[in-house]
Amino acid sequence: MSISTYIDQELRSDHAGEVGAVEIYQGIKAVASWRRDAELLEFANAHGAVEQQHLRMIECLVPVPQRSRLLIPWRIAGWLTGAVPALFGRNTVYATIQAVETFVDQHYQQQIDQLKSYPIHHDLVKVLQQCQADEVHHKHDAGSRVRSINPVLKLWVKMIDLGSRGAVSICRRI
Ligand SMILES: [Fe+2]
Ligand SMILES: [Fe+2]
Repeated sequence: MSISTYIDQELRSDHAGEVGAVEIYQGIKAVASWRRDAELLEFANAHGAVEQQHLRMIECLVPVPQRSRLLIPWRIAGWLTGAVPALFGRNTVYATIQAVETFVDQHYQQQIDQLKSYPIHHDLVKVLQQCQADEVHHKHDAGSRVRSINPVLKLWVKMIDLGSRGAVSICRRI
């Protein structure tokens, strides 16, 4: 595979991921507003604003014809990935976000590792590193708020990881 094909595929997955990330926090906000949970609302507002910035940056790099054709399903899946755990409370949300952001951190790291030996892609690597640094902050912020993980939550977190991996491998293709 040529490096440009690799970049197209990876950026398509990054774009779809950031679309999904924005929706995750929208889903959390919807439930947090409904439950009048100020702490959760503040958490989702702060993280969600950063995801909007990521999306704007990645949108500049991925022209519309190169974007995933499955953005509507990704939006729905993202929204549910935020809203469903929010129905179970803050701890479930924080554990979910920790799992999602752990995955995203590794996802960006693997792209950075591939591209950093190409000086021509220096600016792209900078963008990826900037997004990654924010995701790491999100991961730690969520992780520091997790109080307990029961076996059901552990299983849910595993499903989130597998779902993220599956979504990325689909996005690389369509
Ligand atoms: Fe992001
Ligand atoms: Fe994030």
